[in-house]
Amino acid sequence: MSSKRVLVTGGLGFIGSHTVVALQNEGFEVVIIDNLSNSSIDVLGGITQITGKTPEFENIDLRDKSAVKSFFEKYPDIEDVIHFAASKAVGESVSNPLLYYENNISTLVYLLQELNKKESSRFIFSSSCTVYGQADNLPITEDAPVKEAESPYGNTKQIGEEIIKDTCKTKNSFKAISLRYFNPVGAHPTAEIGELPIGTPQNLIPFITQTAIGKRNKLSVFGDDYPTADGTAVRDYIHVMDLAEAHVHALERLINGKEKNNYEVFNLGTGKGNSVLEVINSFEKVSGEKLAYQIVGRREGDITAAYADTIKANTELNWKANRSLDDALKSAWKWQLVVKNREEEDH
Ligand code: WQD
Repeated sequence: MSSKRVLVTGGLGFIGSHTVVALQNEGFEVVIIDNLSNSSIDVLGGITQITGKTPEFENIDLRDKSAVKSFFEKYPDIEDVIHFAASKAVGESVSNPLLYYENNISTLVYLLQELNKKESSRFIFSSSCTVYGQADNLPITEDAPVKEAESPYGNTKQIGEEIIKDTCKTKNSFKAISLRYFNPVGAHPTAEIGELPIGTPQNLIPFITQTAIGKRNKLSVFGDDYPTADGTAVRDYIHVMDLAEAHVHALERLINGKEKNNYEVFNLGTGKGNSVLEVINSFEKVSGEKLAYQIVGRREGDITAAYADTIKANTELNWKANRSLDDALKSAWKWQLVVKNREEEDH
């Protein structure tokens, strides 16, 4: 394990904050860069409550190239980066593609330019199963073809992977791993940190918990005419803490020189697919709440089914998702109750 500090960009965000906890639990010292555009400074306190350690924090917008340069001058020891900071709303990316290309691509280039100045460095990239589109075969392996992106958001993940791969080709001592997440859900079991969607949630689980808490009238189930067992679409819902721990395993793989190539890709999922109706049933079981929902038409751009082939990550990363969908939904509900209490206290 490295005694050096690890930079986590977007470290106050949903997956970033849980990964900071997992890194600290493993003994890493963490420095967070976040511009608070889609997160809250309160998350820093949540992390500290869980681990007893407050990460160093720099409020930097990675679109500011000179600020990125100054950061690495201030922290010359940092050679390990886990890069989460990016815009991630699929629908918004369709209506505002240039925001996504600027925020998700230029920032990646500025980070890589600084790391490239170092003798050696290691980079973990937050990618997404969205690069596969609707895969031809299930479960989805890492060598499944990358398909034409369904959205500018998905395209920024594909382009990001290509930029990193090309950078790795120029320098053996620059090592990188792209982690293709399936559907991250849930919250830390202490409910000190969790998902904080701004405005109307686009993703299923936060919409479910906000409906159950009374913040939304009812959940719209986007289509029940898919060619699946119950007609609703199937996804691989992975607990955010399992996902976070996989990042630590990926970084340690590179630090310990266990990589097979200096650029690798891993799918991060449970290997199990669940339909929307199965998620609703599971939520009702673990929360004891009856969920109000209606079946409506399909959402533009949605695929029928996606779930991961996890063999590569299980064997090469020595990592396996071991928390269930029930665990994830229980933690999401506990977190939603905490958020509601905090909102009521603030009023
Ligand atoms: C899951 C299922 C919906 C909301 C997206 C991005 C992916 C990643 C995760 C960032 C689908 C259905 C949803 C609702 C519904 N994002 N649904 N009613 O679309 O699989 O993946 O988020 O990294 O890149 O593409 O996740 O949670 O939006 O939807 O019926 O109100 O729930 O149709 O079948 P998705 P999701």
